[in-house]
Amino acid sequence: MTERYGETMKKVRQAIDAERQDATRVMQTTVRLLHHELPHYTWVGFYLLDGNELVLGPFAGRPSPHTRIPLGRGICGAAAAEEQTIIVDDVNTDPRYLACSFDTRSEIVVPIMLDGQVLGEIDIDSDKLAAFGPADKDFLEQLASHLAPILRS
Ligand code: SME
Repeated sequence: MTERYGETMKKVRQAIDAERQDATRVMQTTVRLLHHELPHYTWVGFYLLDGNELVLGPFAGRPSPHTRIPLGRGICGAAAAEEQTIIVDDVNTDPRYLACSFDTRSEIVVPIMLDGQVLGEIDIDSDKLAAFGPADKDFLEQLASHLAPILRS
């Protein structure tokens, strides 16, 4: 993990561990810190699974029209249905993409899983093409594992 991700992970984990009794605050702090610390993270949000729908939770960035996304729809719904991280280098060439902002160029969606169940996901958009690579995937998957027991409790 590069230095920037390592530093950010340290800050986020410190904040999360101090607030772990309150899942909403943990998510609010996480989106604020990721949005602030990593400049290519233009929009950062949580979706939480409720039945067969993903419901928008705390986010940082422009408001999204997609407050409820059925499983299997959009890149968010695909990542939850497939139970794996999806990186899209150019959202305009992906037919699954549900547009949130005209400026978005690339997206990463990382499921938050506990005991084989999807609890929700971290969704990040960037105004840069192909903004997300293996370092983002590793960083966000580690973060998702750390968050999973907090979000379930
Ligand atoms: N682009 C997502 C929808 C959510 S917004 O990016 C916030 C998708 O295709 O599922």
